[in-house]
Amino acid sequence: MPTSLIFFTLICPLVFGKASLPLVINTWNFKNATEAAWAVLQSGGSALDAVETGCNRCQEEQCDGSVGYGGNPDESGETTLDAMIMNGNTMEVGAVGDLRRIKNAIGVARAVMEHTQHTMLVGESASVFAENMGFIAEDLTTIKSLDIFTQWLKGNCQPNYRKNVLPNPSKSCPPYKPQVKLEQKKQLPADIRSHDTIGMIAFDQYGHVAAGTSTNGLTHKVPGRVGDSPIVGAGAYADSLAGAAAATGDGDIMMRFLPSYLAVELMRTGMDPSAACKMAISRIKRHYADFFGAIICANLTGHYGAACNKVDGFLQFHYMVSNGESDAPLLKSVDCF
Ligand SMILES: *[C@@H]1O[C@H](CO)[C@@H](O)[C@H](O)[C@H]1NC(C)=O
Ligand SMILES: *[C@@H]1O[C@H](CO)[C@@H](O)[C@H](O)[C@H]1NC(C)=O
Repeated sequence: MPTSLIFFTLICPLVFGKASLPLVINTWNFKNATEAAWAVLQSGGSALDAVETGCNRCQEEQCDGSVGYGGNPDESGETTLDAMIMNGNTMEVGAVGDLRRIKNAIGVARAVMEHTQHTMLVGESASVFAENMGFIAEDLTTIKSLDIFTQWLKGNCQPNYRKNVLPNPSKSCPPYKPQVKLEQKKQLPADIRSHDTIGMIAFDQYGHVAAGTSTNGLTHKVPGRVGDSPIVGAGAYADSLAGAAAATGDGDIMMRFLPSYLAVELMRTGMDPSAACKMAISRIKRHYADFFGAIICANLTGHYGAACNKVDGFLQFHYMVSNGESDAPLLKSVDCF
């Protein structure tokens, strides 16, 4: 370990008190995920194992219906998954997008990292890869996701994420054709319930950092849509020489700004984690004042922060923290600005 790392990870916590390593932080109040990741660190597991285990817990528990199987069906009624995992020591990343029929998306992401020289696999081919790696293929549809889909069809496929298209003449459902004369379609109101991606960052006691995400994306998304979660630097980023961050929200917008990468780079310059998180949100706000989104950040001494953009119905963002401060994961909140 470089001397600077030894200093930051071993000496600083003593000086700064509460902030300490190891540390687990994740988006939203997904407490069981935090607990699962923390247990891995406590038993001597790696930050990478912690992130995978924590995110998988959310996949299994279908956290808020936005992570894992049986949630947020796309326009064709299918639930597909996006996930990513990043090793902040080696800067290796594994990611999957539009993964079909496999429940453990973050597990497949890790397999991409460990069993290929690639960074990201998508769609049907990612599922074939997963099956070859021993993951079980199964239908991700549940009664709940089928019901969401049926209700949506009954409502003439509204709302949806199309713009400048001519609806199918019989009803306003797929397939659509492009509309030549562009018409201004009002942006969908931020549907807060359909964005609750888990993003998690973990530091082991030596300051080794990992980050990961898992989500089933947006309800009624256009099939093939991949959001910010599996995109390196957008959904999450980790660098054991700088820190880690993970973001959640309007992925289609947020991924254009690589907020997690930006926050980590700002912390590299010594910026306070809360300030770095705020800056990453501000950068997006400048162009999309009404975007829905939040980010969590932590630096190498285990100091952490979060920030979110204030919009109607989203005034406060909740996230979970586990470190030496308490025996159980702590629910933290930050006021959006
Ligand atoms: C969290 O875990 C506990 C214990 O296993 C379980 O009873 C509870 O339902 C879980 N919470 C959620 C939201 O799944
Ligand atoms: C982490 O952030 C805290 C609070 O701003 C700061 O005191 C500390 O020096 C930072 N650590 C590193 C390694 O930059």
